[in-house]
This record gives sequence, C-alpha cells and structure tokens, in this order.
Amino acid sequence: MRIVRAKDYEDMSRKAAAIIAAQVTLKPDCVLGLATGSTPIGTYKNLVAAYEAGDLDFSQVKTYNLDEYRGLPGDHDQSYRYFMNVNLFDHVNIDKANTHVPDGLMEDYEAACAEYDEAVAAAGHQDLQLLGIGNNGHIGFNEPCDSFIKGTHCVDLTESTIQANSRLFDSIDDVPRQAYTMGIGTIMGAKSILVVANGDAKAQAVHDMCYGPIVPSCPASILQLHPNVVVVADEAALALCP
Ligand code: F6R
Repeated sequence: MRIVRAKDYEDMSRKAAAIIAAQVTLKPDCVLGLATGSTPIGTYKNLVAAYEAGDLDFSQVKTYNLDEYRGLPGDHDQSYRYFMNVNLFDHVNIDKANTHVPDGLMEDYEAACAEYDEAVAAAGHQDLQLLGIGNNGHIGFNEPCDSFIKGTHCVDLTESTIQANSRLFDSIDDVPRQAYTMGIGTIMGAKSILVVANGDAKAQAVHDMCYGPIVPSCPASILQLHPNVVVVADEAALALCP
C-alpha cells in the first residue's frame, strides 16, 4: 500500500484527480469504479475542471459505482445515481449509457446483483477503483461483520453509518436502512485502487486499514492484500499512522 500525504482536503482532491486523470489519459477506454460521499466531491470537481480545460476526454470511459440505497429511485436527490450525475456525469462528455450505478429499485435483487458483477467482469474489471472509507472502516457499503462478502449484495446499514449519512437527509428517519453494494471480491478485482480520506473522524479507520489486522470487522483492512493500492489522505486522517 502506498500512502500519499496531502496537506488538506483541496490537496487530497487535486492529487486524487491527477491519478484518475492519468488513468483516463493512458487508457481512454478505461473502466473506472466510482464512489460517492463527501470525500470524492473535490476530486470530481478537479476532474470536471480538467475536462473543461480540454485536458480530459471521457467519451470512451465506462464507470461502475460501488453502491446505491435500496428503495431510492435514480432521480431521488439522495440517490447515488443522482449524486454522480450532479457531481460528475452531467459536466463531462461521458456517454450516460456507459455509466452504471446499482438500481435501488431492483426487484429480483439477488439476480440483479449477480448481473452487476457479471457486467463488471465482462467489461474487464475496473482499471481503477476509487474508494472512500467509512468512520467504521467500511468500503462501499461493506459494513464491519463476521466475514468478507464477495459479490454485490444487499446490506443492512449499521447505526453508525445511518447516523453519519443522516446529515444529508431531512431527518434520520428518512435514511434508508438498506443498500446494495459491490462486495469485497468485486472491489478486489480492480487492477488498481485509490482510497481517499480526510479529516480526523477517519484517522482510526485509516490506521486500521493500513496497519491493523486483516479482519472483516474492519472491511478496508482487506486492501492490504491488494498489490496496487494508493491511499491519498490529509494530515488529519493520517494522524494515527506512523
Ligand atoms: C459511497 C461509499 C462509502 C463512502 C464512505 C465515506 O459510495 O462507498 O463507503 O466512501 O461512507 O463517506 P464520506 O466520504 O461521506 O465520508
């Protein structure tokens, strides 16, 4: 695991965007695995700016997002499909048909989740998977549990995640209790992984991801077994790391 130290959120966002931009430049038809949440918003802003400056072309890029709330339609303003449109897809020349987010309204969800994994594999797996990390060490919505779950699946969100995400909803009661997420196997199938983290609330999780035991109670710890992971984090998020 390579750790890149950033001064602050803006520096983290610029550095992370530069890594993604290099991927898109080197392989214009690359497959990106993408994340939502507060952390990558600045990264996406920098990618939009690079596109507007004429430095990036997304016309052949394919994307697969990590997760989506169960029960939210793509046009709900808290859905992750909506987030991706507003923060990235609507502002670059990506073909929306090449962008994929798990469908929050899928009916036969076990079959639909299996199809999502098959589609990621058929696309050749993610060349680069962008990840944030939860305060509790989750990646995607793979919450701390007793085993690493391989494929895309439906999860019950933990109280700490519901609490953390309630800041974006009118009330905590509006936060969905379940979500669909790529599994750990789907994430680990990526050829390279970029984790972004900022702020002191992430310090323990970042420490445990990089230096803790590899255990499903800290899902991000599995990334220690991946051969090509870069963590771009600010000083606050790295405060507990040596
Ligand atoms: C979202 C996702 C989550 C977030 C994590 C951190 O697609 O995969 O694992 O990365 O919850 O969220 P923020 O960035 O809001 O702290």
